[in-house]
Amino acid sequence: MTTTVDAAMSRSREISASIATHPSRHRMLTGDRPTGDLHVGHYLSSLRNRVTLQEQGVDSFVLIADYQVITDRDSVGQIKANTLSLLADYLAAGIDPDRSTIFAHSAVPALNQLMLPFLSLVTQAELQRNPTVKDELKASQRPLSGLLLTYPVHQAADILFCKADVVPVGRDQLPHVEQTRVVARRFNTRFANGAQVFPEPTALVNDQQLILGVDGQKMSKSRGNVIRLRATPDETAAIIRKARTDSEAVITYEPERRPEVANLLNIASGFMAAAPEELAATLGTGGGRALKELVTEAVNDGLREHRERRRRYAADPAQLTQILRAGNARAASVADNTLAEVRQVMAMDY
Ligand code: TRP
Repeated sequence: MTTTVDAAMSRSREISASIATHPSRHRMLTGDRPTGDLHVGHYLSSLRNRVTLQEQGVDSFVLIADYQVITDRDSVGQIKANTLSLLADYLAAGIDPDRSTIFAHSAVPALNQLMLPFLSLVTQAELQRNPTVKDELKASQRPLSGLLLTYPVHQAADILFCKADVVPVGRDQLPHVEQTRVVARRFNTRFANGAQVFPEPTALVNDQQLILGVDGQKMSKSRGNVIRLRATPDETAAIIRKARTDSEAVITYEPERRPEVANLLNIASGFMAAAPEELAATLGTGGGRALKELVTEAVNDGLREHRERRRRYAADPAQLTQILRAGNARAASVADNTLAEVRQVMAMDY
């Protein structure tokens, strides 16, 4: 397993170099589940990178993975509101619907149909040993549904319908990208006589520090440790006030020994043009209190314009819906072409 991860990381570095020199040769796809509001972790570790790729000239697809919401829960929840909220954050962050195709996979029938031949290419054993599926099963405290077991194959359809070769994701998504590579390879050998119908995509894993919640645990709504992008400056201050620090008056950047303090410094650093060590040095003997003030200001200043743009988008759901529909239509036409090709190579083009 480590060798698989190492290989994936080294492919990630290679493709990153190739993107820098030949951006237009690449197509990226990534996305999020519309389960709730995005937070500063999403902003610092994924939204900004997507915008950078778009600005570099990489052909970009951004997916709102609505069907994935029901992999590990019984109801869709506030899915429409969550979808529009996600879209508002994408647009506010600078994902430009004229240059990036933003879409929901439920609205792209041909994408979903690809899952059928793809399911024939994976084994039950492969699905059952997927570590991310296992973790999600445990966390869901429900019986394993057919969709939870097979959603990595659906995710392969998300990626392959547009023949994306670059998939920016966190490390937890590596097993799915590996499974997608297997699906692409087997499709090409079994159904296409070795023709490269599908590329084997590469995960673009960001090496940044993982941003945690204000208590140093994984950011999660149920833990109340999340700094939401849409929070007001006061709500932001209140959450950061509750943050866990320690009683040492001198703030230092020591991720191993002082993980909560280091995490707060990482958040401030993400919004300021300064390394966490440098920020620590400016705080003198101010302790946790000075640190929290710094982080609050960094987040509120860093997000001021994003929040303003977000508010304007969110106030106009009709416009958001129109933008999403246009993205859905564009994705659907790409998916239709891919499905037509798949039917043809599988001799099902009657
Ligand atoms: N599984 C991803 C997550 O939970 C979301 C996702 C769905 C995705 N389809 C994708 C990410 C395709 C990258 C590529 O965050």
